[in-house]
Amino acid sequence: MGKDVIIACDFASREQTLAFLDRFEGEKPFVKIGMELFYAEGPGMVREIRKRGHRIFLDLKLHDIPNTVKKAMSVLRDLDVDITNLHAAGTIAMMEAAVEGLTRPDGTRPLLIAVTQLTSTDQAAMERDLWIDRPLDQVVLHYAKNARQAGLDGVVCSPLEAGRVHEVCGADFLTVTPGVRFADAAADDQKRVMTPAEARRIGSDYIVVGRPITQAEDPVAAWERCRREFVD
Ligand code: C5P
Repeated sequence: MGKDVIIACDFASREQTLAFLDRFEGEKPFVKIGMELFYAEGPGMVREIRKRGHRIFLDLKLHDIPNTVKKAMSVLRDLDVDITNLHAAGTIAMMEAAVEGLTRPDGTRPLLIAVTQLTSTDQAAMERDLWIDRPLDQVVLHYAKNARQAGLDGVVCSPLEAGRVHEVCGADFLTVTPGVRFADAAADDQKRVMTPAEARRIGSDYIVVGRPITQAEDPVAAWERCRREFVD
């Protein structure tokens, strides 16, 4: 797996998603399927996109008791996605159970990455609502270390955190970073953004890009620009 741009297919239906992907004609971008589309259309949607030849990051962010997560992961492993994820807050035991559930009888499995603290959670909310009074960046690194210890392959984090995660967990520990915007575009509701080129400089392995591509007048050109700035 090399550096790549993952398009967040945050669409509400199968029709919208396939119409979007059809615009790419022969090209097969790496796509992210999230909760909205998965809950609306089910696993058949994942199989269909897979059959069209796309690589898939299935972003369902599991978080439950270890046995339940293990069983859910053993269902997801048969969808043959490339990357899936869970919340590191579910503990090391939950993450270890997830790895077990995701591993196929032949020993292969999709990459498994952890959400540390959501980028929508700030220091104040973490202290007030979660009663975690350590600095947010330390919490993120601690969760990343837990994920590494449990045998996971990386974390979802802000591009600003990717460099430190690599320092602490190793260069081969994947950092998958949303919150990416072109230098000449609006940030939308993202608070802390980086351009594809900055994300590349800071060492992100994959960037997750939604609206700058999905809402672009020419999504294929936007995707190509993103890849030029991030990958080439
Ligand atoms: O449209 P935009 O580029 O902001 O989309 C970013 C994608 O990454 C969305 O699917 C969003 O849910 C996801 N994401 C995020 N921040 C996180 C985790 C996931 O923006 N911390």
